[in-house]
Amino acid sequence: MKIKNTTQRYGLIAILLHWLMAILLIGLLILGLYMTSLPISHEKLKLYGWHKEYGLLALFLVIFRLAWRLTNLVPVLTLPLWEIIAARTVHWLFYVFMFAMPITGWLLTSAAGLPPSFFGLFVLPVLVSQNDQLMKLFQEIHSYLGYGLIALICMHVSAALKHYFINKDDILQRIFS
Ligand code: HEM
Repeated sequence: MKIKNTTQRYGLIAILLHWLMAILLIGLLILGLYMTSLPISHEKLKLYGWHKEYGLLALFLVIFRLAWRLTNLVPVLTLPLWEIIAARTVHWLFYVFMFAMPITGWLLTSAAGLPPSFFGLFVLPVLVSQNDQLMKLFQEIHSYLGYGLIALICMHVSAALKHYFINKDDILQRIFS
């Protein structure tokens, strides 16, 4: 397998980034929904800490992933025009959500007056000063984005499964090898 993409196949880096981000995003969605449902406790605070650290990791990875996407070839999609447009729209919407989720998370902890730490290695600056109303607003946006991201993942997975089981083409296999 090549490191970089070709016009026919994804390369190793694109495949690794795809699956790493998929695991990270799904994990963060589950963790986010679970931790917010818990009563206030030591456990809840510990999970909030992990959520913020892995959320920031997702932000750093998506910066690298976007740079990789913009400087690499993208394998062609030999599909009807409407499907190409639908697939590309969903792919770009993923980038919007992959940036918007961690940035609104960072904004909401900033507005709560809590600068987020990255695995104890360094502390990120606060993006806005402490403000309860702003915190509630960013909390709501972060939550709606979470549900939007879940809907997007469902569409993306359904399309991939349709290609595998109904069209029987190699679209799904291309992101494995
Ligand atoms: C891709 C990255 C991320 C995803 C997918 C994600 C997802 C979620 C989800 C689904 C929730 C539950 C929302 C609800 O109440 O319905 C949540 C809550 C939360 N997230 Fe994130 N998040 C991400 C990144 C971050 C980052 C980077 C931070 C902070 C540095 C952060 C801070 C928080 C906090 C503090 C809450 C709890 C809000 C509350 O108490 O209501 N998140 N997140």
